[in-house]
Amino acid sequence: MSRTTTFQQRAGATFRALINDLKRNEAAAASELGVDESVVLGILAGERPVTRDIIEKAVAIWPVNERDFFPIHDDAPDGLRVMRKAESVASRRVFQRGGADFYEYRDTAMSRLVMIRPEWIKMLHVVTDNDPENPTVRWNNGHFLYQFTYFIGAVNYYYEWNGRKFCAPMATGDSVFGLPFAKHSFASRDPTSPGRILALTYGGRLSGDAQHELGALGEEAARQYVLPLNDAARAQSALLRLHAANGSYSTGQLAAASGVGRDRLERALDGEETLDTEALEALADALRVPVRELVPAALDTTDGVVIVPGERAPAWLLPGAGRPAYRVKELAGSRVTPYAKSLELEVLPDPVDRYCLTTGLHEYGYNHGPAPVTLGWECDGSAHRTVLEPEDSFYIKPHVPHWFTAPARSDPDAAPRVLLLRVGGKIAGDTALEASIIGRDAISRVAFETTCWYDRGRRAGPEDAATSPGRTGSSPERNASDGVPAPPRFPPVGNARLNEERPARAGPT
Ligand SMILES: [Fe+2]
Repeated sequence: MSRTTTFQQRAGATFRALINDLKRNEAAAASELGVDESVVLGILAGERPVTRDIIEKAVAIWPVNERDFFPIHDDAPDGLRVMRKAESVASRRVFQRGGADFYEYRDTAMSRLVMIRPEWIKMLHVVTDNDPENPTVRWNNGHFLYQFTYFIGAVNYYYEWNGRKFCAPMATGDSVFGLPFAKHSFASRDPTSPGRILALTYGGRLSGDAQHELGALGEEAARQYVLPLNDAARAQSALLRLHAANGSYSTGQLAAASGVGRDRLERALDGEETLDTEALEALADALRVPVRELVPAALDTTDGVVIVPGERAPAWLLPGAGRPAYRVKELAGSRVTPYAKSLELEVLPDPVDRYCLTTGLHEYGYNHGPAPVTLGWECDGSAHRTVLEPEDSFYIKPHVPHWFTAPARSDPDAAPRVLLLRVGGKIAGDTALEASIIGRDAISRVAFETTCWYDRGRRAGPEDAATSPGRTGSSPERNASDGVPAPPRFPPVGNARLNEERPARAGPT
């Protein structure tokens, strides 16, 4: 569960991790940054901010970026954020396209912890046909974020793929998954009751650090990362070539090490033959990669989208047919984003026990009515609850147990329904596997690093000696017996368990 640390404390831990990676202890870092060692110790202890001057100096002398110094804000210290309907209404913006009002946008719940940008959008443009070429429809240019869209009312969904335009007439309960940068638009088919959508956009693994890396590498290098995925043999060939090049393997070496015949391997590398599982496993061993790295992604989008009509969405009772707590409906999604899940949860009355939902995903929710629902959650050992009125929305952190309850109603159709979008953030898939491999103790240090990468004993080791000449000033925390800086004072709040879980440390490497 969440441990409370301040932004400044996390900035101190970030600073510690950064100088550890650079193999600078406190004294060396202070000397090179031109500040007294007490300044660095204060930063590491979370007692002083990392000033603009220090960051500018660090970027000038070390291979680091300004953004490396900034942790992110935790705006959900209690595990949850709620945005009430009134707040959403207050964020109302009407934008024109083609000289006329086109959409009304309203924000719904967001957090700085995850790239989910969920907008409530009302269609202000009305059409009288389902023609994808309708000239009154104003299209966007596409956008970077993936989009899950939930439809309320009679709304036309327009989308374009490979230069061809489509129009899908949608109704309440229908949903769509759309790939980034695919142009799209929406319009209402009902002039008396304009349709609405929940346009829940979210970032995949290309957002954030990967995006910045691509920006710095440049357009040409960025384009080199795009592999052909439309043809299975070519896609497998591209993956084999990628890993063969990464290790500078020769075809002869790969054939000999894997036992896959050279002619067959050459045909596979040329995209003329698709290898079976046995051959792929042998090649994966030879390339020293998991076999899944050689398996191309299976695209399940059609013309860039996955459309799920509400009445055809898979549905089930949770936890089961005996006194269920929820009726779950799986809405649009794609294998392209395996750690994004969209669900509609019908909250059934009076379950025997509250049924907890807990995942490692960030969760956005929206009560789309028709009734209020009580949301309970547990954070840091305390239970909380709030009532979500229709059109209230919320965000819940990963690993926070939560549940929904609602009183019995005479009309079963009046049971509250909650729209959920869960997104894996940055700690999913390969990243989560890496976390699992390095283990629970080490991941605590990844989250909040408080320790130098080596132990300073009673006698200064060679690394201390190497950095000693650069020391400036003296620190009240210096160990009087040997002149070696004492460990920094750790932030007093919230990291006690981190310290307890600190693993035995090896010597400097
Ligand atoms: Fe969009």
